[in-house]
Parts: sequence; structure tokens; C-alpha cells
Amino acid sequence: PTTREYHWTIAEHELNPDGVYRPMMLINAMFPGPLIECNEGDEIVVHVHNEATNATSIHWHGLYQNGTNWMDGTVGITQCPIAPGRSFTYRFNASGQTGTYWYHSHMSMQASDGLVGPIVIHAKGDEEKRLQEVPYGEDRVVLVSDHYYDLSSSLLMQYLAPGNENDEPVPQSALINGRNIRDCSDLPNRNCSSTNTSNALFDLSSDSNTRLRIINVGAYAEFQIQIDEHKFLLTEVDGVDVHPQSIHRLNINPAQRYSIILTPPNPSKGLYWMRARMITHCFAYEEPELKEEVRGVIRYWAPGDSVAPQSKDWPEIIEVECRDLNTSALKPIKAIAAPAHADDQVYLRSSFQIRDWRLSRGYLNDSTYRANLTHPTLNTLTTGFAQKQDVFMYSLSLVSGINTYLFDPTHTLVYQTRGIRTIDILLQNLDDGNHPFHLHGHTFFVLASGHGYPPANLHSTLNLTNPLRRDTASVEAFGWTLIRFVADNPGVWPFHCHLGWHSEAGLLMQFLTRVDEVAKWTVPAELDRLCAAEGVEKGAGP
Ligand code: C2O
Repeated sequence: PTTREYHWTIAEHELNPDGVYRPMMLINAMFPGPLIECNEGDEIVVHVHNEATNATSIHWHGLYQNGTNWMDGTVGITQCPIAPGRSFTYRFNASGQTGTYWYHSHMSMQASDGLVGPIVIHAKGDEEKRLQEVPYGEDRVVLVSDHYYDLSSSLLMQYLAPGNENDEPVPQSALINGRNIRDCSDLPNRNCSSTNTSNALFDLSSDSNTRLRIINVGAYAEFQIQIDEHKFLLTEVDGVDVHPQSIHRLNINPAQRYSIILTPPNPSKGLYWMRARMITHCFAYEEPELKEEVRGVIRYWAPGDSVAPQSKDWPEIIEVECRDLNTSALKPIKAIAAPAHADDQVYLRSSFQIRDWRLSRGYLNDSTYRANLTHPTLNTLTTGFAQKQDVFMYSLSLVSGINTYLFDPTHTLVYQTRGIRTIDILLQNLDDGNHPFHLHGHTFFVLASGHGYPPANLHSTLNLTNPLRRDTASVEAFGWTLIRFVADNPGVWPFHCHLGWHSEAGLLMQFLTRVDEVAKWTVPAELDRLCAAEGVEKGAGP
């Protein structure tokens, strides 16, 4: 295995990705952040130096971190933030998985301020192309994101203030690979300049297929993506290769990834629009500056200097629903049967409520999460907390059955397991928004979902042969989703809504898996030094 070493400096910059200047937090002044590309099994070493005024962290979304839970980058859970002026080195192996992933800050909502980037893990040798079934020449990364003109910290203050329940800030714009072109005359109150703005341009070979690895790195909006006059084959879901399915519109929720294989049309016209639209009717209210569509350009060859395609849009006849792409027909190429039954059932109800802080908070059962930036769960566990005090919180004996011990003395819902257990999460969404839920450190089987309440015979109707596995799946408004996972990766792993506003509002719980293993760990001393630094809490959310 090779070591891939990166040196990143995080700092604040004024940037105009689509024309409008705004303050951003960037890695090496790049937006989006640099690509991490490696082969399965490689060692990744990322030296992060924080020159910003707020503390920060980087999380490697979808990476298992098997044996290196403390490198997961989740503040309040696996680490203290990297204080201003401080450095931290993330070091882990990309083993046991291949495909398309991404990284983002896991401190407050800094991801929405620019701290995002792609990760591509190639399978060894010819394995990658074999697993993909459809031959392709090159592959490209396509990052789509909603885009706000204000810093997430000020938007968060407004969002969580009393009286604003369920009014998530609505993005003004959208980006493909950090680019878009706004008409500055539409935005008289903004500092806007279209010099240096452009649509993302993808120069593709007209002789072979191309794999596009699409990642929604945004904070809030679901996107629908299409490419004029092209159908494509869907071949990967969150790092899991699937038998190809032909589609021409792709719906993607925040944090999800899909690979599509694009075949050049014959004869090729040279230039085609890629259109990514935010599904705005899922938003609670209107935003006057909003432009919902962002375009990219697919170029097979360029007639003259033109970069303005004349291609035709697919006719808009679809009614997009505010939930995940229908993946029920997708079958993983590496077939794995889901365990026939779960050892533990975790029944979660998600809702937004106003309680003791008099802010609108997101609740999983009776718990709303707030990061304890100076005492992350993992440090607390591995420095003897579990042996010494408050033992009731972490050392409850395991009981199977629904909700037997999901109680929560500190508003921090932690589900603890010993040994390797199979866990069902039945998530019931009591609120009017879609929630893309992500589990760290694992992929899960998506077993079933629906509207209203699950049927009484749910467990006898499941197809366990080779269900889709992924790491981010949505529970629709007033609906439910059942996922199953084998909790075999020791550590403390958040399970949370990946809409930035919602996880900051507290829609997050933790799985503390194989606590018997975790108890034996000595977490590297570097982690303790992070906690001792001055300014470790700078930039904490409201
Ligand atoms: Cu993309 Cu908690 O993660």
C-alpha cells in the first residue's frame, strides 16, 4: 500500500463562486477542496493546519475508520476541534471499501462555508472495471451543492431563534464543482461580479464512456440532475457498485453519491448542458434571490470557441417527490444477504420541539444533541469515565426489545453494544421534512420505507436476499424507514440527519459499538492535546 500525504491549510477567504462575494472557509484557498484519490488499502495522511479564526475538524464521510475511530473527525464525539493556530494530522487506511466518498468539516456548519471535497477510492487492479460491469475510459467528479450568500453561523442563529421553527434558511444559489454564473443585475443588494465566473466544464472523450461520480455536498437541498439528450446508467450508490440501471434523471439528497456512466451520443453534437435543479417545493418558504438551477457543460469537442450548448432539455413532466431516488430495483454486484433477524431494535421518532432551551431543536425520541466540544464521547470513555462515574449511562446491560433503555440523562442519546450485534433502526419521522440520515463507520441495508406508519407484518415482508447497502438514506416527511446494520466496527459513531440545519438543531444520536473493544484502547495523546488548546470552542453553534 502507498501512503498518500496531503498538507492542508484552512483559512478564511472572500470568494465569488457564482458572482456574489461571500466569506468562506477553504482548504488551501481551493473551492471545492482538493481531491483525495487513492487505491483500496492505501494509507491517507492529512496534515491539517488551522489558520482560521474558528476551531474546525475534517470528517471522512463514509470511510469505515476500522480501528481508527478517533480519526473520524466528529467534534464532540471522537475529537475536540482543532483550535485556531493549531494543527492535527489525520492518519487512516482506506481499507475494505471502494468507490465515491467525500470529506467535510464536522464542526458546526462549516461544510456549508466551503470545507468540502471529494474522495475516490479505486479498487485494486482490474477489479474496479470488473465491478462496474460497463466499460468506461475516464472518470470525473461532479460535486453539486446548494449555496448560501451568508455565513452559516449567522444563518444558524436566525434559524434556531424562538419563533422560527421549521424555517430552514433557503439557499440563494446552486453550484456544480463550486461554479455557477449569476446575473449580477438580479442581485442589486449583493457585492457581485461575474468576472472569473463560469459554468463547470467537463471535457469528455467522444470515443469511450465516462464515469461521473456525483456527490451532493450541499447543506439542505435535494437535487435533480439530468444531461440533455443523454440517458445514463446508474452503477454506484454510496460506494456500493450495483448492476446498471438506465435512467435519465437522478435525484440526489445531501451526502449521497451516485456514479453514472455516460455514453457519447452518436453522432455527437459536441456540447450539452448538464442541469442540476434544487427541488425547491420541498422548502418551507420562498427566497427572493433564489435561482434553483445550475448548469454545467459536457463537451465532447468544441465547435469554434463556443461553450454554450444548443442542446434540448428533457421535457419536464415529472413531479419530483421529496424523498430518495427509488432504489428498489438496484442490486449490489457484491451480493450480501442481510442477517435474517436483528439482535436489537432501535425505534426512533424524529421531531422538532421547543423545550428547555426555548430554541427549536430537533429530537430523536427525547434527546437533542449538542456537541460537548471539550469532552468528546470517545475521550470520556477511554480515560476511565465508564469505570469511575455515571456508570449508568454507558454500562447498561443489553436488553433486546423496543426502546427498553433508550433513555437519556444528558440529552445525549447513546446506544451501546457489546460484541458484534445486528441492529435494526426503525425511524419514524413525525415532521414535515425529508431527512437523509447517515450512519458513520458502517454501511447499512435499506430494508423498507413508506408513508405513515409501518405495516404490522413489516418483518415478514422484508427481502433480505441482497438488499441495497448505502450510508445515507432518507426518511420522508411523516414516513418511516427501516435499516439494518451489523455493528462490528468498534467505536462511537453518530447517526444523524445530514441536512446541516437539522444536525445542528440536534437531530443526532450515537452508537457506541463493541464497547468491550473500545474500553481497551489508548487514544493517541495528540487527541488530548487538541482538547487542552486555547480557543477549542471558537465557532460553536448557538
Ligand atoms: Cu457526512 Cu456526520 O457526516
